[in-house]
Order: sequence, then C-alpha cells, then structure tokens
Amino acid sequence: MEKTGKQIGAFRTFAMALGLAASVAALSAPARAADGKLTIGVVLPLSGLYANEGAQYENGIKVYQALHGTKAAGLDVETVTRDDQGPASGDLSRRLTQELIVRNKADVILGYSFTPNAMSAATLLTEAKKPAVIINAATSIITEKSPYFVRVSFTTGQLAATLGDWAAKNGVKTAYTIVSDYAPGIDAETWFKEAFTKAGGTIVGGARTPVSEMEYAPYLQRAQEAKPDAIFSFDPGGDVAVAFMKEAKKRGIMQSGIKMLVTGDVVEDNSVPLFGDAIEGVISVHHYQVGLDNDENKAFVKKYKEMFGADAIPNFRAVQGYDGMSLIYHAVEKAKGKTDADSIMEAMKGLTIQSPRGHVTIDPRTRDVVDDMYVRRGGQKDGLWQNIQIATYPDVKDPAKEQPAPAK
Ligand code: PHB
Repeated sequence: MEKTGKQIGAFRTFAMALGLAASVAALSAPARAADGKLTIGVVLPLSGLYANEGAQYENGIKVYQALHGTKAAGLDVETVTRDDQGPASGDLSRRLTQELIVRNKADVILGYSFTPNAMSAATLLTEAKKPAVIINAATSIITEKSPYFVRVSFTTGQLAATLGDWAAKNGVKTAYTIVSDYAPGIDAETWFKEAFTKAGGTIVGGARTPVSEMEYAPYLQRAQEAKPDAIFSFDPGGDVAVAFMKEAKKRGIMQSGIKMLVTGDVVEDNSVPLFGDAIEGVISVHHYQVGLDNDENKAFVKKYKEMFGADAIPNFRAVQGYDGMSLIYHAVEKAKGKTDADSIMEAMKGLTIQSPRGHVTIDPRTRDVVDDMYVRRGGQKDGLWQNIQIATYPDVKDPAKEQPAPAK
C-alpha cells in the first residue's frame, strides 16, 4: 500500500521523536567511566588503639590487588586511603568521606571499622549518591540508614544468634553476658539471648562495658559470682580483646568449669598465639579462621605471608578488606565498566563471590552479607594454638532482618 503524504509526515515526526528519545537516553544512560579509572576511597583506623586492626584491613586490600591485579572491567583501579583514627571519630569519618568523594572523585567508598563511623557517613552517602562497602561495622541497622550501603563483613547478630543456638544445644543451660556498651554490643546481647533462650537456655545476668575497656576484673568477678555454665562476650577486638582474655586467664575462668563463649572478634587469629593455653576450650563463632581449608584461603594466606612476613597472621579483618575489593571488582565487571552509583549498586545486589572464608553473597533485599558461620573451639593443631572449626551453620543471614526484634 502506497503511503499518503500525510502518513509520511506523521511517520517522520514519529521517527524524529524516536531519534530524540534515543539520544536523550544515550545522554542519561550510565556510560563506562570516561576517565578509564575506578577510584576507591578507603577509610580505616590507621592510628591509635585500633591501628593494628586498620593494618589488617589495609593488608587484605593489598593482597587482593597483588593476586588479582589493578584492573577491573578494563579500568585502572586506584585506592586513596584515609585514617579515621577509631570509634570516637565519627565526624572525622564523615569529613574524610566527603573529601574522598569531592576532592579525590572516589567512585566507591570501602571502609568503616566501627559502627559510629559508618552511621556518621550515611546521610552524606545518600545525598552524594555514592556506594559504600562496609568493611567491618557490624550493627544490623547501619544498612538501613542509606540505600548506598552494602556490607561485606558480618553483623554481631549473625554471630551471637549462631552461638546462642549452638550453646543451648550443646549442654549450656545458663549464661551470663558481657558486651561492649554500644550498638553492636547491644545487638550481640539481644540476639545471643534470643537464640539461647529459644533453644532452652536461661540468662542469669549480664554487664555492659565501655567500648574501649581495658580493665575487665570487676566484670569477670561478678560473672563468676553468678556461677553460670557459660559467659558470653563481645568486644570490638584488638587490645580490648587481649585485655579481656588476659583477665579471664588470670582468674582461671576456663579451668573453673565456666565455658567461655565469644564472638570471633575476641579471639582474632593473630591474637591467639598471645593467649597460648588460655584459648583452650574457648568456643567462638565467626565467618573466618586462618586454618580454613579451601583454595582461595591457601592462596590468600600464602600471599599475605609473602608480603608481610612469614610470622604475619591474617585475621578476619584482612579477609574483609580482600572481600571488599573483590566485591567492587566483580560488581564493576558485572556492570561492564559502568561506575555510576546505580549501576554498581544493582550489580552488587545478589552477587556471590568466592572468598578465603568460603563464599559470600549480598542479599539483594537487605544489601547485607550472607555467609557460613563457623563454630570453633580453641586448641592446638600442628603445634599451634588456633581456633579449630567444630561445626558450620551454612548461609546465615542477619537475624534482625529476618524476624521481628525480640522484646527487651
Ligand atoms: C563495630 O563498631 O560495629 C564493630 C567494631 C569492631 C568489631 C565488631 C564490630 O570487631
């Protein structure tokens, strides 16, 4: 059928409209990074009481690049690292994050060891539309504070609920809780209690300690006086955890018939040799221990020792640094080199990566990490004091996002 002049005119208008729409779409469609670079702004505690912990994350980041190179989806990956000094410096974290975004043109942030630091950056990340991969901060609610947060670490609820369930099912009838008095500690207390009592256990008392407490004698004294079957404890690791374990050792708690149940933060793999026989029988839950038997972990530990010395022991923080980089690399590859926030966020949701800890999935609904939880017992293996895996809870999610909050 021949087209009339009117039909041809209408067709032209339609085609022009289509062309225009296509070019607008091309303008607004996320493109590959124009500068050929992917800049990762890194925020870690690199000085002060938690500097050793900061070094672990940073080392993990370096190991990832040493093993997997400095290109992702053909882009040159650059890291720019800043020191936020520890948990008392939320404002500094926010300021550093802002500088990394504005001055250094960071495409993604990787960082925040502590909950207050992650919380302080939330609004800024939302306003700036910048994805941030949480390298450690472990309070459940953080990921709800910005749609641009993704967590690659763990939540203290994941650890504590697993430990509470395991303990009640393995002969522990009563427990006393000691947790650091800030959000991840309160989450740990809440979810230990919930899982432990649900499986038949009873909480006989508890204490909350200042975040950077170094004097555990009064707390452990009171716990001993309550005569529980077990003490459950969470603290943010490092020197604080060493102080806790030293005091427990001095009091002979583990030999007195009271079981010690702790989150993995308290018995970091690199601190275990310092504890020596005090680690004997200590039950902990975490997503990583250095002795894990998988190929990715073997390559990771080998490279870590090559780079940082034969005696250097990577802990879960180094793995979180490594996995944070892995997640960013894989997301940018999945997004075919697009580095805008929405492309990166979409790519991260539902992504599964292989890790020295096993496998890690980002829950597409919550942007929180889903991974295996290992129950470990302190003991000697190959002549070394270690956290030795005795049970596995597969694919554990943050309990706070799976069920209603328990009554206080
Ligand atoms: C936190 O502040 O969320 C935090 C810090 C250190 C840990 C665990 C949680 O080991």
